[in-house]
Amino acid sequence: MSRRTVGEIAGMKGRQKIAMVTAYDYTMAALCEGAGVDVLLVGDSAGMVMMGHRSTVPVTMDDMCLFTGSVARARRDALLVADMPFMSYQADASQAVSNAGRLVRAGADAVKLEGAMPGTVSAITGVGIPVMGHLGVLPQTALLGEGYAVRGGAEAARAMTEEARALAEAGAFAVTLEMVSREAAGQITRSVPVPTIGIGSGPDCDGQVLVLQDMLGMYERVRPRFVKRYAEIGGAVTDAVKRYAGDVRAGRFPAPENWTDMN
Ligand code: KIV
Repeated sequence: MSRRTVGEIAGMKGRQKIAMVTAYDYTMAALCEGAGVDVLLVGDSAGMVMMGHRSTVPVTMDDMCLFTGSVARARRDALLVADMPFMSYQADASQAVSNAGRLVRAGADAVKLEGAMPGTVSAITGVGIPVMGHLGVLPQTALLGEGYAVRGGAEAARAMTEEARALAEAGAFAVTLEMVSREAAGQITRSVPVPTIGIGSGPDCDGQVLVLQDMLGMYERVRPRFVKRYAEIGGAVTDAVKRYAGDVRAGRFPAPENWTDMN
């Protein structure tokens, strides 16, 4: 496979489902590349699963550049999208453009930003940086407003469909739909010319995304119902480290094959 472009990802709509997963560091990104995912998302969920914050709000541009650079060094074929963190794009469009530029310099192919901000999307795409939108539950502001309840009654579905259309018209090449009802996600997906990528939004989106630590069973603070756990890596890590510590304490590690004699 050659490196995915935004055009190829956009062209997958209606033809092939898009597999996107988050990654924040070199080691895990390399493993995800080996699995052949279409898109690696350096999500600001890093603030929670990598940094231990209770929300994504404290994440800074410096944090996102560090994570993006780490993932970029492992990236081979996947499109690399990096999240713009809280208050890196909301104040004005020129701030948004220069921060999007910093993420591209760190290695991103595209940036993602939350909310119905077509003006900002058009300013960023206007300088040639591709943008993915993000509607539904918006984690950066969820705790200031409606919380994490699923969005998508009839009225919300109509509003989000209009917002998604406006984002696509402003140049967004795809839109993430987070915790949107199945029906609303289906309606939005059918109404916009660009792919929708769902998280907790049902099967009718053009693609799916999960937070890597959630799907690998490594993060226990929150266990959303929409996550499918494909492995229990957390338990395997604790077990391995427990056996290591036991071996050190009992003098079983290191063994002769783990050290070097003078001759
Ligand atoms: O930050 C993130 O991981 C995200 C996904 C939940 C889509 O934005």
